[in-house]
Amino acid sequence: MPGQPLITQSIADAAEALLSGQLVAIPTETVYGLAADATNPIAVAKVFALKGRPADHPLIVHCGSAAQAWQCARSVTSAARRLADAFWPGPLTLVLPRSDWISLAITAGQDSVAVRVPSHPLTRQLLAAVDRPLVAPSANRFGRVSPTTAEHVRDEFPDSDLLILDGGPCDVGIESTIVDCRAVESVRILRPGKITQQHLVEELGEACLQVPENDPATVRVSGALPTHYAPQAKVVVLEARELSVWCASSMDDEVPTFLIAPALPPENLPAGIRWHSVSSDVNQFAREMYALFRQADRESFARIVVQLPPAEGIGLALRDRLQRAAN
Ligand code: TXA
Ligand code: MG
Repeated sequence: MPGQPLITQSIADAAEALLSGQLVAIPTETVYGLAADATNPIAVAKVFALKGRPADHPLIVHCGSAAQAWQCARSVTSAARRLADAFWPGPLTLVLPRSDWISLAITAGQDSVAVRVPSHPLTRQLLAAVDRPLVAPSANRFGRVSPTTAEHVRDEFPDSDLLILDGGPCDVGIESTIVDCRAVESVRILRPGKITQQHLVEELGEACLQVPENDPATVRVSGALPTHYAPQAKVVVLEARELSVWCASSMDDEVPTFLIAPALPPENLPAGIRWHSVSSDVNQFAREMYALFRQADRESFARIVVQLPPAEGIGLALRDRLQRAAN
């Protein structure tokens, strides 16, 4: 008999489940995570199995404090310490050399580990209660849209007996910024997020930031696969200036389309379009984006057309996710 997910607000129940080797979906400020005790290899294997994640894609380790995060690492550069002081708890993940405490199953055979101290109050209490690190990828099936509410997680895994700790809608709405801090002289952004390049430069100075190179072989970041974060519907992304032209050229194609844009062009809309207005505040847009993808799929739209936000602040990370969803 397949189970059914259970949504709870009990930290004690969640802690007990984790300590007995079960998976628990946890709220974070970015997106919901599918958590397991990082020190329990059987529990870690369950994460890969439930998510359908290939074994060569590493997991992020979530810690209750920077001190605990440093125990996951063999060495910690001064840049990593500065970033942790500035942004933890918060939506920033640091890649460091792996210590023996962290198994190769977690890091997918790599000698580096990705760690972060999340800021969501429920998950902070949970980390304090279990007093050990938790691995947690985003709580969606591999390659799909990250969940930003407890109900999204339930919809992802309807046949599992997963316990879901309900912390309400996520505040940031897209995944953490990942920064490679293994080198002594410089850091490198592997995945953009709410903590931007500008934030890193303010903390570390311009010289410390390495421009990303085209070397996907060095580190594997599954969120950096060209196709990821994808709903069922086909996603089309457009710059603001392209919207009128797109509307004019799609007048007769009659594809049921969910249009996500802050404002409509003055011209007539093509047939079959439903416009969903989003805030021109890009932080609010980021908060809602993944829920809108899910809504469009639920309502069986064949196509989602999204107007890209301006390429500044969290807008850069949002553009990155939207472009991958459109591939
Ligand atoms: O905001 C987030 O980071 C969310 C919440 C739940 O914390 N987690 C998340 O996990 O997005 P996931 O597994 O969906 O994405 C983690 C990314 C993957 O792209 C993975 O390849 C990368 O982190 N990663 C993990 N360990 C790594 C490592 N040692 N080196 C480089 N990248 C790593
Ligand atoms: Mg993910």
